[in-house]
Amino acid sequence: MKKYFYFLLSTILILQVSVSRADEGLWIPLLLQSLNEKEMQDMGMRISAEEIYNINNSSLKDAILLFGGGCTAEIISEEGLILTNHHCGYAQIQKHSSIGNDLLTDGFWAMDKQEELPNPGLTVTRLVRMEDVTQRMLDGITGEMTEKERAKAIKEKGEEITAEIEKDSLYKASVRPFYYGNEYYVLVYEIFKDVRLVGAPPSNVGKFGGDTDNWMWPRHTGDFSLFRIYVNKDNEPAEYAEDNVPYKPLYSIPISIKGVQEDDFTFIFGFPGRTQEYLPSDAIEMITQVQNPNRIKLRRKKLDIYESFMTQDPQIRIQYSLKHARLSNGWKKWIGENRGIQKLDGIDTKLGFEKGFNDWVQASAERKKKYGGLLEAFDKSYDEMTNAQLEMIYLVEAGLGVEIVRAARIAAKLVSISEIKETTNEEIQKELKVVLKKGEGFYKNYYLPIDRKAFVVLLNIYREEFPPDQLPAIFALIDKKYKGNIDEFADYVFKKSMFANEKTFFDFFDNYKKSKYKKVLKDPAFTMAKSFIDFYGQNTKPVISKLSVEIDSLMRIYMQAQMEYQPENNFYPDANSTLRVAYGKVKPYHPRDGVFYEYQTTLKGIMEKEDPNIYDYVVEDKLKQLYNQKDYGKYGMGDEMPVCFIATNHTTGGNSGSPALNADGQLIGLNFDRCWEGTMSDLMFDPDQCRNIMLDIRYFLFMVDKFAGAGHLVDEMELID
Ligand code: ARG
Ligand code: ASP
Repeated sequence: MKKYFYFLLSTILILQVSVSRADEGLWIPLLLQSLNEKEMQDMGMRISAEEIYNINNSSLKDAILLFGGGCTAEIISEEGLILTNHHCGYAQIQKHSSIGNDLLTDGFWAMDKQEELPNPGLTVTRLVRMEDVTQRMLDGITGEMTEKERAKAIKEKGEEITAEIEKDSLYKASVRPFYYGNEYYVLVYEIFKDVRLVGAPPSNVGKFGGDTDNWMWPRHTGDFSLFRIYVNKDNEPAEYAEDNVPYKPLYSIPISIKGVQEDDFTFIFGFPGRTQEYLPSDAIEMITQVQNPNRIKLRRKKLDIYESFMTQDPQIRIQYSLKHARLSNGWKKWIGENRGIQKLDGIDTKLGFEKGFNDWVQASAERKKKYGGLLEAFDKSYDEMTNAQLEMIYLVEAGLGVEIVRAARIAAKLVSISEIKETTNEEIQKELKVVLKKGEGFYKNYYLPIDRKAFVVLLNIYREEFPPDQLPAIFALIDKKYKGNIDEFADYVFKKSMFANEKTFFDFFDNYKKSKYKKVLKDPAFTMAKSFIDFYGQNTKPVISKLSVEIDSLMRIYMQAQMEYQPENNFYPDANSTLRVAYGKVKPYHPRDGVFYEYQTTLKGIMEKEDPNIYDYVVEDKLKQLYNQKDYGKYGMGDEMPVCFIATNHTTGGNSGSPALNADGQLIGLNFDRCWEGTMSDLMFDPDQCRNIMLDIRYFLFMVDKFAGAGHLVDEMELID
């Protein structure tokens, strides 16, 4: 009887383990057929893995693009129209904006192709194919090699493989480690370089709810923008040229306007940036106990200062809104991450796992030889790493968090090449151009009183955090010359530095000559920048580099060990900005005791949130009108207009702009965020609390068609109802 009980208990446990993993995972498209297809179909998917990833025929993957360096986009028409988030296209939309033609505020809609706006520098990238090259990469790599030797061999082999592929080809190849270097894949890419802006809703739609609603549910943000890929006459990627033509894609995703129901199968196809699911407890401790709290503290200080000015003056709001959004995004994410880890008892959970793991290691002489001492080694490395990371955070967030210090860094390269005798005037002029361009961008959005305030606050906290011998040299100077009074020192810096304002900056650099570099060297803001960078170079960087190598090599072994320890688990590799599939179901959730969140929001919620006095909650008359008349065209859901929905898909930064697809592989949503309670999913996924947030595709269509009157764009798409 007792035996049977234990048997039952253990099957229940195994069941629980596999059930809890069901929605977790960022899967490799190439391996879907062997690893995931069955489960996906059991969960409701009606298409095959081959329809998602296939290199012999066109498949869904041909419509998925890396947008710029860090977002995803997808092709939604036979004429190369692509869809991504508003926050992903934000920098481009901003660049086309000027006073009197403010595309961010007013939105933008190209009424024909002539009106579409080029974006030099913006690329979108399609995965042509991927291939497992583990064997070739690891051939000849031995356990006796030092990390340095190993890295060198790996680098050389990788270059050999990419060179073979790139020879006689327009494609770019890249070999990347997966599972911390236990496996290697080569990824072959096609990069498009002429990508034009087609449409963007006004900010009060595309950023509705602003940083207040960011990372939160219920959500009502119309977070989308539209671009188009242009190619040469042979349908090949080409640099921008006026006579380039719209790209004829291999695949364009059909759009379903049938909407979603609870428990519907969904999947997300995109380029997740970074997750760290297999870390030891020491790492979770470092992140949640040291890194996150300090970043949160420093960012909150800066945000408070920004906000106190932004609410006073609309001009400052425009200047600081992107900077604010960037700071706030991380600030809020880390708060959520820490709460989530705490709720999951993350450190203890990992410790528990490590105990079991250790028992397993100790039970075999062979394993003891391979994996014994691993956890102790992590412990030691992370101990040292924690202090170095703390230094790094203060350098980045506080030291270089002072804008005038960052402005001074613009000139760093120019100064260093000016110091060299052999540098030609031509080289100087070339770099000078870069400096002037960067300066233009910087001063357009610089407001000195904000920076002056941040300067004093940030440097004070910086000094409090470390003992004097662990501080950049500039602090000793402040002590010596200003009796430690940072406020007085700030007076001096802002009065004397050429970087304090646009005029002195351009007066100097417009007339720059090689011999003038000495003047920059003496500039107080430049001196500060140098002091921070020197400190980093001499103290922080060497330690972090050394420990990163150590930890990487430990992680490689630990990853292998974890897979051996739990062979029944289906391990997915941590995200590394390569194309992945995540799948799950549309589901509501209980964020905390007594609270229940529905899976869908509607336009009604926008009207409920409306507040004409709060910038982020302004609703335009046009939208109100459509709402009052229930004029939703074919995009409505009865009397309601759907706006966003959530599901259990495992996503992370980089998945923004990813298509949300239904059981038939049709587009039903546009991924753009996660719910706050689940932001620890980068470290630890919890199917009860982790939800990805998607724009309902019907709201996107309604916006383009009904709100913007750009129905000609909808005509390009294939709608399924
Ligand atoms: N939280 C989302 C992501 O990590 C959206 C960020 C952009 N929106 C904002 N209000 N800052 O990228
Ligand atoms: N908002 C994120 C992005 O921009 C997505 C996420 O972190 O869930 O990629």
